[in-house]
Amino acid sequence: MKHFLSIEDFTRDEIEEIFEKAHFFKKNPYSNFLQNKTFALIFEKPSTRTRVSFEVGIKQLGGDTIFISNRDSQLARGEEISDTSRVLSRYVDGVIIRTFGHNIIEEFSKFSTVPVINALTDLRHPCQVLTDIFTIIEFLGDIEGKTISFIGDGNNMMNSWITALMRFNFTLKCVFPKGFEPDKNIVEKSQKEGIGKLILSNNPEDAFIDVDAVNTDVWASMGQEDEAEKRKNAFKDFQINEKNLSLSNNAIVLHCLPAHKGEEITKETFEKNAKYIFAQAENRLHVQKGILWKLFS
Ligand code: CP
Ligand code: NVA
Repeated sequence: MKHFLSIEDFTRDEIEEIFEKAHFFKKNPYSNFLQNKTFALIFEKPSTRTRVSFEVGIKQLGGDTIFISNRDSQLARGEEISDTSRVLSRYVDGVIIRTFGHNIIEEFSKFSTVPVINALTDLRHPCQVLTDIFTIIEFLGDIEGKTISFIGDGNNMMNSWITALMRFNFTLKCVFPKGFEPDKNIVEKSQKEGIGKLILSNNPEDAFIDVDAVNTDVWASMGQEDEAEKRKNAFKDFQINEKNLSLSNNAIVLHCLPAHKGEEITKETFEKNAKYIFAQAENRLHVQKGILWKLFS
């Protein structure tokens, strides 16, 4: 029994198997390997892609889902995470959690006797970044040896990209305004143990020069709504637009979505890269089915 809370929870070989299976599911969506299995989806934050792709994916594989928002369970009324986890382990076969602090999902998994999957925490978004790598391989042939940038906030997305350097040999340029650094422990670990190369920069141009793909995400994540105005000012030079992108040599643009057009990316650049961005969103379904196969087959 295994949990998936961070990209590091899978070896490189396991990730390759997940990607192989994701390709298979992309061509053959239906199977019954989750027959008679029920999954709880505990979502303490909103979601379009993650919720729907997990629910549809599980159903296409013959399983069933129960969606629990933060209005629905006793967690919101203070029931302990350890108790909730031990109870749900007796009813369901797996739990998919989107929450705030990463410590919450760690605590939950410590007590869970069924696999727990991270559907996003403030610290990490591993299902998304595995999908982003799968998408880059699909469009660019490989990620090994490529240079990928992430421009914007040192948030859960940037942190998971940095973690990916522990499993893939590529160059990652993380470009953010001063004061919006990625997680210090994740950076240190990746610099020490990673097989890829991490470059940190406060110069927006670095995100575009000599890169094969540029990634971004919202400037204010869920839970940071109060800081949105202040952040707009701090991040104004860290936008993906046609002028910045012309510094690159035909880099493709990815965005995990939802996008705030006119902030981290212009509408024009978004539309010009829609083919990559929506393939990326679609791939959530296939890659997560690969993850479910790895954890439950
Ligand atoms: N990219 C992503 O996780 O989207 P949702 O918030 O809609 O799930
Ligand atoms: N960083 C964003 C990602 C959304 C998918 C957030 O946490 O809101």
